[in-house]
Amino acid sequence: MQITYPPKLSLARLPTPLEFAGRITKQTGDKNPLYLKRDDLSGMGVSGNKIRKLEFLLAEAKQEGADVVITAGGVQSNHCRATAAACAKVGLRCHLLLRGEAYFPYDGNLLLDRLFGAELRFYPADEFKNNYQEILEETRAFYKKRNLNTYYFPIGGSVATGAWGYIKAFEELCEQVDTLRQKESRLKDKRWYIVSAVGSGGSMAGLILGKILFQREDVEIIGFNVCDDAEYFVREIRKIASEFKDKYNAEISPETLSPKIIDGYVGEGYAIPYPEVLETIRVVARSEGIILDPVYTGKAFYGLVEQIKKGTFEQGCPIIFIHTGGTFSIFAYRERFK
Ligand SMILES: Cc1ncc(COP(=O)(O)O)c(C=O)c1O
Repeated sequence: MQITYPPKLSLARLPTPLEFAGRITKQTGDKNPLYLKRDDLSGMGVSGNKIRKLEFLLAEAKQEGADVVITAGGVQSNHCRATAAACAKVGLRCHLLLRGEAYFPYDGNLLLDRLFGAELRFYPADEFKNNYQEILEETRAFYKKRNLNTYYFPIGGSVATGAWGYIKAFEELCEQVDTLRQKESRLKDKRWYIVSAVGSGGSMAGLILGKILFQREDVEIIGFNVCDDAEYFVREIRKIASEFKDKYNAEISPETLSPKIIDGYVGEGYAIPYPEVLETIRVVARSEGIILDPVYTGKAFYGLVEQIKKGTFEQGCPIIFIHTGGTFSIFAYRERFK
């Protein structure tokens, strides 16, 4: 099926590889062949899932004549780091509103934000939560006074324009899975699963929209939330889908979407890893030579392994875990890996 995509910049190195994780498949009882979609290798400041969204967001920013891109996230935000790198590449200024205290020496994503030349502003968590709109308006006004046009997108780039990134990723995955099924007779005619961490809901929204637009009934999309709860993300994903419907005149019914989000692996809260997550990161590193992160992919992968053991997935059907990146944040957690 042909989809007409909106304008897009070419920033990511695509398609990202789809790799069989044979040793983890064995360790989880050989019930489901497990594949890793290596979006952690999508390029542009090494990257992860955000660069796919940024291809569409920054194309829109350019089209609207922006000089400065404003976005937000935690101090170790992967999204902010990817935005800073992409803005550097396409000649846009980048202004980051960061939740949390500045700390020295800069580390992980924060160090890279600075290297990529972004303007960094730090706000204590309470102020960030309670005064966000004011902070944003002040920032916009600051640039307007200087005759500079701003283009803004929220945490995670999780808006309708950004959703195109994972619609396109869904198309890419379908092609890879169809090729795989032709090669591997055990996978022929089997349904398949896409599994991903959910942090702001934009990637999952894109995947779900992709499934609808490409009319693929053979795949189930499952998210593991790393903050908030399942109900919250069902609402968020419907909100993004509704914005998408209005903006692009899409024939979808956002209110009927029922994204499958498996809750129960957040632990004490966002960005707080617990021993099972740290152990999962160690096991995957030692078994596959792949680094998961303590905030998103580590938690989601731990949840996935537990659910495979419980028999949540139909036996023999392939599971594709999207490695959405986050590699640099591991350095900010070095104390936990002693
Ligand atoms: C490494 C990583 N994985 C997963 C996610 C979740 O993606 P989304 O915000 O689109 O739900 C994020 C960002 O929030 C991320 O940085």
